Amino acid sequence: NKVKMEDIVSLCKRRGIIFPSSEIYNGFAGFFDYGPLGSELKKNVKDNFWRHFVQRREDVVGIDSSIIHNPTTWQSSGHLDGFSDPMVDCKETKLRYRADQLFCAPVTVEECGTTVGFVCVLEANDEDMVKAAKKQAKKLLKESDRKGQAIQPFAFKDLTQVSEEEMGQIPSPGSGKPTLTMPRDFNLMFQTNVGAMQDGSSVAYLRPETAQGIFINYKNVIGTSRQKLPFGIAQIGKAFRNEITPRNFIFRSREFEQMEIEYFIPPGDDVWQPFHEKWIADSKAFLETVGLREDLMGYDVHEGDGLAHYARACTDITFKFPFGEQELMGIAARGNFDLTSHTEGSGKTLDYFDEETKEKFIPHVIEPSLGVDRLILALICSAYAEDEVNGEKRNYLSFHPSIAPVKVSVLPLVKNKEPLVKAARELFEKLQMRWNVQWDQTGAIGRRYRRADEIGVPFCVTVDFETIEDDGAVTIRDRDTTEQVRIPMDEVVPYLSKMIDG
Ligand code: GAP
Repeated sequence: NKVKMEDIVSLCKRRGIIFPSSEIYNGFAGFFDYGPLGSELKKNVKDNFWRHFVQRREDVVGIDSSIIHNPTTWQSSGHLDGFSDPMVDCKETKLRYRADQLFCAPVTVEECGTTVGFVCVLEANDEDMVKAAKKQAKKLLKESDRKGQAIQPFAFKDLTQVSEEEMGQIPSPGSGKPTLTMPRDFNLMFQTNVGAMQDGSSVAYLRPETAQGIFINYKNVIGTSRQKLPFGIAQIGKAFRNEITPRNFIFRSREFEQMEIEYFIPPGDDVWQPFHEKWIADSKAFLETVGLREDLMGYDVHEGDGLAHYARACTDITFKFPFGEQELMGIAARGNFDLTSHTEGSGKTLDYFDEETKEKFIPHVIEPSLGVDRLILALICSAYAEDEVNGEKRNYLSFHPSIAPVKVSVLPLVKNKEPLVKAARELFEKLQMRWNVQWDQTGAIGRRYRRADEIGVPFCVTVDFETIEDDGAVTIRDRDTTEQVRIPMDEVVPYLSKMIDG
C-alpha cells in the first residue's frame, strides 16, 4: 500500500473528516475530533456493523451500557491488577515510552565482537528510523576509534528484554543520552471521582473496553430477550485508555470507539473451535462488505506467550497500514473466564439453564472486537486512490457507497437558468429524504466532479439543458469508472437505491 500517512492526515484535515482535538489550544495528544464528513463516515461504519451483526441476525441482540461501571467490575475483570503496559521514563526529558515499543540494538565491532554502545528506535521496521540508527552506529564506531563495521542488520530487541547493565547504555530517543529507567507497569485506565467525595472511596474508572458492560448485563439480557444458547450481545461505544505513546493518527488514541460482541456458547473442549472459525470468517466478510481491500488484510494467530492466560485462542485480522501490518480486529475464544470472574466478584451466579439437558453451566464465549476509529483509518487507506482522467492527475476516495459520507452530489449545469436550477433542486430535496447528499453549483463541472471524487462521493447527478428542454433525464456519473449514464428523472431514486443500498 503506497499511500503515505501524511497524505491521509492532510486530506482528513483539509476536507473536514478528522481534526486534532482542541486544535485552537494546540491540540491534545491522543484525542481527535470528527468533522462534518468524518462524523457521517463514522455513523455509516457503525450502522453497517449494527445491521450486519445485530439486525440481520436472530441470534445477536444489542445493548448500550454506561461508560462508568461500579468500580468492582474492574477488580473482577482483572483490569485493575493487570491492564498495564511496561513503561520506561527518560529522567532528563520526563518523556515516557512503552518499553515493548522501544527497540534497541548493540553496536558491535565486527572483528572482535566488542559492544561500543547502543542505538535506539521507536519502530524497528521503519526504514527511515533504521537508516538514522545506522548513521548513529557509524558515529559511535568512529568515536570509539574502531575501524570495524556495525554488524548488519541490527538485531533489535525491545526494552522489556534488556538487562539493567544494558539499560545504562541505551540512549533515550528524547535526549540522546542514556537516561532511561527500568521498565515498570503502568495501568492504562483513566481514573475519576464519582460524587462529592474526593478520597479513595469515590474512585471510578472510564471503561477501557466495552466488553465488560456486556458481561455485567448478561443476566439482564438472558432474563428479558428469550435468547437461547448460542447467542450474542453486541455493543458499540467509547472506550478510554491512557496510552503511553498514542501514535499513527487515529490508529492508537486515548479515546476511541469499539464495536464488540460477546457470543455465548456451551462449554466443552470440542465446542468452541467451529464457533471461533465461523466468527473469524464472518468478521472478514463484514470487513469486505464495507469495502476494505482484501489484498491488504491478513491474519495473525496468537500462540504461546502471545495468548492471554485464560484465552483458548485469538486470531487478529490485520491490515497493511502505511506504517506496517498491524492488528485491526481481534477474535478471541475466552473460555468462561469473564462470567466466572464476575460470578465470584459479585456473588451472583452468571449461569445458563439448558432446558433440553436440564443442565446448569457458565457459558463460554467468543469475542470479536473491532475499533471504529482503527477501521476508519484502514478504510481511508484502502480507498485512497490516484489515477488520470483526461490527462489530468486525480486523487479520490473509492469508498464503498454504504459508508461514503456523501452518497450523491447534485450538480445543476449552470446556476443562472431558473427552470434548470428548480428541477435540480427538486431532485436534490427528494434524494435528501433518503441519503446524505450535497448540492454543488459552483465552478466548472469538471472541478465539481473532482471535489466530489476527493471526498469519495460515489455518484454525481447532473441536471442540464436537455433535462428541462428535451428528454426529462439526468446524467449519473460513477466516481470510480467516471462513466456516465442517462436516466429518466423518475428512475433516479430506484437506480441509486440499487447502487447504494444493494
Ligand atoms: N475486549 C477486547 C479488547 O478490548 P483489544 O485488542 O485491547 O481487545 C480491541 O482491543 C480492538 O480495539 C483493537 O483490535 C483495536 O481495533 C481497538 N483498539 C484498542 N486500543 C485502541 C486504541 N488505543 N486506539 C484505537 N483503537 C484501539
